[in-house]
Order: sequence, then C-alpha cells, then structure tokens
Amino acid sequence: MLTASLALSPDHVVGPVRRRLFGSFVEHLGRCVRTGIHEPGHPTADEDGFRGDVLELTRELGVSVVRYPGGNFVSGYRWEDGVGPVASRPTRRDLAWRSIEDNAVGLDEFARWARKADVEVMYAVNLGTRGVAEALDVHEYANHEGGTHLSELRRANGSPEPHGVRLWCLGNEMDGPWQTGHKTAHEYGRLAAETARALRQAEPDLELVACGSSNSAMPTFGAWEDTVLALTYDQVDHISLHAYYEPLDGDVASFLASAVDMDYFIERVAATADAVGARLKSDKRITLSFDEWNVWYLSRFQADPPTEWRVAPPLLEDVYDVTDAVVVGSLLISLLRHSDRVAVACQAQLVNVIAPIRAEPGGPAWRQTTFHPFALTSRLAAGDVLRVAVDSPTVPTARYGDVPAVDAVATHSADGGTVLFVVNRHLSEPVELTVPLAALGEVEVVEAWGLHDEDTTATNSAAEPDRVTPTPSSTAVVDGVLRATLPPVSWHVIRLARRG
Ligand code: AHR
Repeated sequence: MLTASLALSPDHVVGPVRRRLFGSFVEHLGRCVRTGIHEPGHPTADEDGFRGDVLELTRELGVSVVRYPGGNFVSGYRWEDGVGPVASRPTRRDLAWRSIEDNAVGLDEFARWARKADVEVMYAVNLGTRGVAEALDVHEYANHEGGTHLSELRRANGSPEPHGVRLWCLGNEMDGPWQTGHKTAHEYGRLAAETARALRQAEPDLELVACGSSNSAMPTFGAWEDTVLALTYDQVDHISLHAYYEPLDGDVASFLASAVDMDYFIERVAATADAVGARLKSDKRITLSFDEWNVWYLSRFQADPPTEWRVAPPLLEDVYDVTDAVVVGSLLISLLRHSDRVAVACQAQLVNVIAPIRAEPGGPAWRQTTFHPFALTSRLAAGDVLRVAVDSPTVPTARYGDVPAVDAVATHSADGGTVLFVVNRHLSEPVELTVPLAALGEVEVVEAWGLHDEDTTATNSAAEPDRVTPTPSSTAVVDGVLRATLPPVSWHVIRLARRG
C-alpha cells in the first residue's frame, strides 16, 4: 500500500476563504439560459419563467457570484436588445456559437434570477465589437439610480431599483483569434484602460477585471498580461485567467494532474502582475479573477461545431464521469491554496453547457458528478486557508513529469474547525494517508466524504441521477493521528472539530 502524509498548522495561513471563489457562469450559449435557468411553461417555472428546480440546485451548489452574459457571446452582444417588452426585442445572429439569439432573457431578467438564487452578478461588457460608450450605457442602465434616460428606461421596464453590479469584466478573451473583434495586447489594453477610466468616472468604486490570457498555452501568454497591465494597472483591480482541461489522446494521468497547470498559471500571472507593479513603482497589488475554469471536452466540440442557425441548440453538453469530478475537486484545491491572490473564480458554466447541473426541457434537472466536489467545497471551506505540506509518492505524467499522487489543502476557522480537501491522483493504487493533528489540539472527525467509484467512467443521468454521489470516506483518529484510506482516482473532504 502506498503511504502519504500531510503536515498542517493553524499558523500557516495563506489567506481567507473568499466566498467569490465559488463563482459560476451563465452565458447565452446553447441551453444555459433558455431551458437552463429560464423555461416558461416548465412544471417548476415561477412567475418569471425561471426553473424552480434549477434555482434550487444552484442554491445547493453554493454558488456565490455568476458571470454573465458571456463568454465569446458577449463580444457581439448589444445589451439593449435584451431589455424592454420581450415581444419587441430583436432576434439576432450570435456569431460566436453560430446560433440565433431571441433576447427573451436580458439584463433585467438575469438580475432578477440572481436575486432569487442569492448570487452576486458579475457583468461582462462587449469590448469586441463595441467600446467605451456602450459600456457606459449599460452601466447607466444597470446602476444609475434614476433621473437619466437609461436609468429611467430601466425603471419603466420594471426594475425601479438599480441592479447595483459591482464586478465588471472589460471584455472576454480578447487575446483569442476566435474572439469577434480580437485585438492585440496594445489595442485591447488601451481600450480597456479608457473603458475603465470612464466607468470609474461614473462610479469610482467598481471592481474591474482586465482580460488576461485564454489559457497558459496561448502563444502570447505572459507578454499579453505584461502589456495589458502596463496600460491598465491603475485602472483595474483584477486580471482574468481562463483554463479548461480534458484528457487528450487518452492521457488520463496528465488529466488528473491538471491542477499542476492551474498552479503554474496562477503563479506566473501573479508574478507578471507584480513585475509590472514594480516597474511602475506602484504599491497596488493586482488580484486574479479565474473567471472561467472547468473540465471541457473541447476537442469533441471542435470536431462537431454547430452548422445550423437555431435558438438554444444543445451545445457543449458534456456528461461528466467520476474522473472528471476528481479533477474538478483538485482544481478547487488549487484555487483555494491561492486564495491570497485569486479573488474571484467562476466555474464555467452553471447549467447544461459544460455544467454541474443538467436540465431537460420540460423534464427533470439533476446533479452531474462534478456538482458534488463543488457543493461540498463551497459548503465546508471556512475561515482561513492553510498551507499544507504534502509528502507523497509520485505518479508519472506525460505532460507534467512526476507529480505527487496526493494533493491537499485545508481551511481553519476561529471555532477550531479544520477541513481537509484531499485528492489521490494515482490511477490504480490506493494511498494510506496520515495527518498528525497535534497542532490542532483535541479534534475528532465530524464528517468525511469521498467521491470515487470502482468504475471511474460512471456518470449521472436523468434515468439514474444519483448513480455517482459522495459516500462516507474511511477515516479514523488514532493517538492524535488522522488516518484515511484514499482509493485510486478519488477526492475527499474531511471535517474535524474540537472535541467536547
Ligand atoms: O465557456 C465556454 C467558452 O469558453 C466561453 O464562451 C469563452 O470565453 C471560452 O473560450
């Protein structure tokens, strides 16, 4: 049996558990909006046409902030198409996803849905085909109290109170040649800086996110952040990162180690931001918005892109298995361990489109395998994140070389509660884990859940929505040492509390 150990102390604090790390994303893409969050006529639909079953699962998932309305979609979007009487809203082409957008849902509806879901709105403006004026317009519509043309229009459209959006993305993936209105770093940096300056004239304390790289393998990665931040440093708060992972060429070992890339990406972006800050002799620290991350079988989509112009076609409806859920759990470990630097993170996306929630039109909604590590991490991570020293055997990977089989992070709260998040990335071997607990005082395990299955390809479906669910992990505390058995390809959360 392989063995591993973790060392942790409440003194080794990385940073607070930031609730905004448990963000999600709703894009006008496929069936995320239409027949995802919104389906008038569905048996669970409320008076606004929002699916009650999806709202309930969103709350259970523990989502804190939701990015909207895109994504690649936003780079061709006219926000004003989505406000006012629904019957007179225009139907448009969405070039990003070769779809038809009928605009039945727009900013006011999404803000209403967000209030019901109890999530914060993170709004992306179009800096692909549009610019400063349109960003100011949507801000006036969303946030200005009243007494101006666009704020009065919002009121007339049935939203008397401003939506109060604090977090704004300055475009989406502008480094990507696939993006409508793609720009060089210099072109984008100038536009982002001017848009940010104008938005701050309107409302100085907004939080603004500049576009970073679409992934760490982009040819412009590093240089892009350097140029964009040199042009926007004083105007923005966060720089974005996006990353999607899938097993390429059947290489599951590397896929399970995807958090190695996420760690690398976060640390390089933070270093680049700090280098720009040093050059500018600035005391300001830019934080990171990892506002798109997930497992995405992108190669399947690329092999079969949409050809028909349709409203809400089923796109990117990946069905996730046990291995995918373990990877999602391990990516959350990476995000938590960087909570000193990552201020916002959004799993992309929320429902139907590469999502933890699936919903059939007119039918049921259910939890994909990936729902569980997200929901448990969001529910149980509390207080401060602790740096954990891991002593683990390694596994060979084609992409990242030898990586530790076991990866972990912990959180610790003022009441003495400690929560361990652990993954075993070994493809075939269980690992016996030991964790000396002396630094935590007299503690006991109060709950321990694992996500694993003999069949790592098992999935959930409408017919079998609970085929894969968390099961109790095998743990024991003996002589002040926690012992846990971690099956191969497994993710775990173990909550300890002070005894008595
Ligand atoms: O989430 C799906 C797509 O991935 C988003 O629209 C885009 O920003 C990214 O490339």
